Amino acid sequence: MSKKLFIETLGCAMNSRDSEHMIAELKEKEGYETTENFRDADLILINTCSVREKPVQKLFSELGVFYKKKKEGAKIGVCGCTASHLGAEIIKRAPYVSFVLGARNVSKISEVLHRDKAVEIDINYDESEFAFKDFRSSPYKGFINISIGCDKACTFCIVPKTRGEEISIPDSLIINEAKRIVESGAKEIFLLGQNVNNYGRRFSGEHEKVNFTELLRRLSEIDALERIRFTSPHPFHMDDEFIEEFARNPKICKSMHMPLQSGSSKVLKDMKRGYTKEWFLNRVAKLKSECPQATISTDIIVAFPGESDEDFAESIDVMKQVEFDQIFSFKYSPRPETEAEHFTNTVDEEIASDRLNMLQSLNNEIIDKKNARQLGKVYRVYFEALNKDNYVAGRSDNNILIKVKGSDELLGEFRDVKITAIGRTILTGEILA
Ligand code: SAH
Ligand code: F3S
Repeated sequence: MSKKLFIETLGCAMNSRDSEHMIAELKEKEGYETTENFRDADLILINTCSVREKPVQKLFSELGVFYKKKKEGAKIGVCGCTASHLGAEIIKRAPYVSFVLGARNVSKISEVLHRDKAVEIDINYDESEFAFKDFRSSPYKGFINISIGCDKACTFCIVPKTRGEEISIPDSLIINEAKRIVESGAKEIFLLGQNVNNYGRRFSGEHEKVNFTELLRRLSEIDALERIRFTSPHPFHMDDEFIEEFARNPKICKSMHMPLQSGSSKVLKDMKRGYTKEWFLNRVAKLKSECPQATISTDIIVAFPGESDEDFAESIDVMKQVEFDQIFSFKYSPRPETEAEHFTNTVDEEIASDRLNMLQSLNNEIIDKKNARQLGKVYRVYFEALNKDNYVAGRSDNNILIKVKGSDELLGEFRDVKITAIGRTILTGEILA
């Protein structure tokens, strides 16, 4: 009988891809099969996130539960960003943990499995050319890492400390992976990196200079590939050439993530984001003029140290001007080993909550207003999920989530869909004959 692996993945899309890599390695080299029930598992892995404080607390309470209820003899491993930054401390606090594997060391999964109390958290480890085996959680789209690490030093962000310096993966490996994905029947790829449009800045070996725009062009030459998505680009690196290629290339999906973080140029400077409010609005204007149908999503942090009422009003102003289609908003959370951790001009918790509420209710107003205009519109939808009650869901090119009545025959198919009902997170439609 095969051994069973339970894996829980927290955090971002890069963690999801890292989990796919670890599953592939463990299946191929160690004979594991995945299970949804941790009580049956011979190996329990938590792939952690440390971007905000709460996931760290959650980790230790979850570990306790796993330890109490796990099968006898089952191993527990902690992977990902919290593994990178807490390291051996995890085994000190939870001595029943068998190994700790950092976010930049996932290729060593089968090695640490056989070394009790192993701690592998080297953030300079170069796995940019490691040949991971194939495992994909969706048959309809494939995630592809295009770089590892991040070279920015945003003062609030722990990621450069957990994922190390940025190294681009050679474009030939990315293109081969994209070809394998479409050969398996998927029509969409999703490129991943902390800062995708900084692609090509550094390769670990000798390599031709290929930037992100050029990578997109090369990938779009793959015939059977229909859709290319990516996350996250950085507003600082959104040059004209990139925006023009985005607008012009029919295979690039027309949804752009533009992480604003703050609308105040002063706060942006304190965050070391490298752009101003004016630059951000200028890039949005360029994008909207080149590609009016593009949707724009963003990340905003409220109550960064020193954020005054006036600074916060600038974030609200950008929201009103841009009318983002989706917002991920967070209260600032001080993180270890970041510059902002030492900033003393912190904002009151109550003010932070008020700001987050204001921002989220403005966002809801904007979304409701935009959604009301969707009735009767027609979108080409790529179906990828079977929902409850005989609905099948998919996304439009510009990333609008849409469901229709239907069965699994629609999965992996494109259809034109007319919107017939509006909800805040998903629209309902009818397939046009
Ligand atoms: N380069 C990645 C950033 C990863 S972190 C990207 O652009 O997606 C994802 C988001 O978490 C950031 O954009 C930021 O809005 C938020 N975040 C990061 N550190 C944070 C902190 N210390 N407190 C609150 N939010 C944070
Ligand atoms: Fe973090 Fe800034 Fe990089 S948000 S991941 S340091 S671009």
